Amino acid sequence: MATRACGAADAGDAFVARLLHWFDDHGRHDLPWQHPRSPYRVWLSEIMLQQTQVATVIGYFQRFLQHFPTLPDLAAADNDAVMAQWAGLGYYARARNLHAAAQHCVAEHGGELPRDFDALHALPGIGRSTAGAILSQAWNDPFPILDGNVKRVLTRYHGIDGFPGLPAVEKPLWALATAHVAQVPVGRMADYTQAQMDLGATVCTRSRPACVICPLQQACVARREGRTAELPTPKASKVLPEREAVALLLRDAQGRVLLHKRPDTGIWAQLWTLPQADSGSALQDWFDAHVEGSLEDAEELPVLQHTFSHYRLQLQILARRVQGLRVETPGLRWVAAEQLASLGLPAPIRKLLEGDTLTVPARPPRRSRNLT
Ligand code: ADE
Repeated sequence: MATRACGAADAGDAFVARLLHWFDDHGRHDLPWQHPRSPYRVWLSEIMLQQTQVATVIGYFQRFLQHFPTLPDLAAADNDAVMAQWAGLGYYARARNLHAAAQHCVAEHGGELPRDFDALHALPGIGRSTAGAILSQAWNDPFPILDGNVKRVLTRYHGIDGFPGLPAVEKPLWALATAHVAQVPVGRMADYTQAQMDLGATVCTRSRPACVICPLQQACVARREGRTAELPTPKASKVLPEREAVALLLRDAQGRVLLHKRPDTGIWAQLWTLPQADSGSALQDWFDAHVEGSLEDAEELPVLQHTFSHYRLQLQILARRVQGLRVETPGLRWVAAEQLASLGLPAPIRKLLEGDTLTVPARPPRRSRNLT
């Protein structure tokens, strides 16, 4: 790691003043979580925005608040109702943590988000940068943030080499971010936090940054040295492993689909999805134990591909009409098409079922491969 612009001690003045001046004219001032800017709304927006673009978040944010207008409403909500409002945003641990954190706030903090950094940081799903983003935006408190946008701006401005996800690079970036915050005028922290995000999202973009209109161009090391395409240093690339699994799209005589609620941990935790197993034989065993009917002549649907953060899944789906369940089983449910919207489903499964005009035929056209 090398820093060739000003060091942490003198990191601030021009950076902060120019950024705030730019923000007044060119920043985003009409995002829904800014009006009104309550701690609960800021928190919700920050969690939704952790892995998702503003344009996608806006609709989810507004719908979520219609269902859960206050933090205590969220805490009291049924887990399925929370997951249903999150469905499609992905990274579902965010929703589980949000719900758990709301319950913690009701139990420990009088139903409000704590203003104390350590108490806030201790809540599920709130890391150091998110805690800073909440405190600075909700109360104008002087805490730095260091999300992907800010890392990009700082590595370029200060000319810092090395993948910013590495602790050895992150540490000096936090020091620079903290030094900048010390220069922010009282009452302008919310604007400063938003300004960094806006600059990163609209000017200092990953590819083809608009340096000619950047308020920081005079002192930016990457700009001066023609290194904006190299910074921030990318992570060493790795090839994702492939995994295969088999799932069942079973319908009963009324056309309802059989869904299974996944356990509390692991991939797609707590979401309703198709019964699935890692092998055909395991799935056949599961079928024989739970379902009345046969998998013979099940229809093979096109393989569904889905990329998780650490592997790529190829899901073979077999569709079949069946008679019913052998026994009522908790976590297994026949779901009619009109009920799908009220349950949390993984996005690719929702897409499959909502786009699924297949009425699974009694005698399907194609024989499936032998499951065992
Ligand atoms: N990403 C995280 N927080 C954000 C915000 N307040 N505005 C835009 N993008 C963001």
